Amino acid sequence: MKIETTVKDVRKTVKEWRKEGLTVGLVPTMGYLHEGHQSLIKKAVEQCDKVVVSIFVNPMQFGPTEDLASYPRDLEKDSELCEKTGADLIFHPEPEEMYQEGFCSFVDMTGLTQALCGLSRPVHFRGVCTVVSKLFHIVQPDKAYFGEKDAQQLAVIKRMVKDLNMDIEIVGCPIIREKDGLAKSSRNTYLDEKERSAALILSKSIFLGKKMVEEGERNANVVKQAMTDLIQKEPMAEIDYVEIVDQNTMQSIEEIKGDILCAIAVGINHKARLIDNFMMTV
Ligand code: PAF
Repeated sequence: MKIETTVKDVRKTVKEWRKEGLTVGLVPTMGYLHEGHQSLIKKAVEQCDKVVVSIFVNPMQFGPTEDLASYPRDLEKDSELCEKTGADLIFHPEPEEMYQEGFCSFVDMTGLTQALCGLSRPVHFRGVCTVVSKLFHIVQPDKAYFGEKDAQQLAVIKRMVKDLNMDIEIVGCPIIREKDGLAKSSRNTYLDEKERSAALILSKSIFLGKKMVEEGERNANVVKQAMTDLIQKEPMAEIDYVEIVDQNTMQSIEEIKGDILCAIAVGINHKARLIDNFMMTV
């Protein structure tokens, strides 16, 4: 497995693969890889001849008061995980390689990005769309892999690919959870033992909401209220949102029907803002 840091070198490697008629999968990440990322890499290895994992903590998608500086990084451990999972290339650029002096072009989106995480993280999706477009142009993959834990991000990327006629198949992969239910996230490492057990309130409320819908509840407000009440019992939890939206538009719904996304964002003890969700077709 190679590790490359420049756009030029990645392009050269991918061009050689293309000459041999090989297909290419891309797994965009910010590193500090866990079993969630590993499941994306595994899927890419199954479906593509060659797999590129990008590891880049993208400054553009962090707001001024967010955790860019403290975001965990460990290239050595990430490389081991990529290698043993079957990736062929890690693209690990410096910020200056991705954003050269004078950088002033962005990919932005309205609608889908103005709900859920977009409300409390106003610059986030512009940063995500811009960096993912750049990665798509650099690697030119056939398929790209994203986790369903970031359900809004997945919807935004699918929309961007459709709107901008990018010839790339976007593959969504299921949430991977710890044994006790906590969704895997690089940000879980911000938490000490007590905070980590407080964080279980996210998955507990997701499982409660899912059960209510499975058992026939169709009033979104009733489900959201029950989930909110449960989260509020945890003193370390600060709710950002508990929402039920249409999966395609990200607009809030009152009656649960069609393709729905129930998504939550909750801060734990002012240390980590975590997200979780379930999607269902009703
Ligand atoms: O999901 C992430 O880790 C990031 O938002 C992504 C897609 C790698 C873009 O920086």
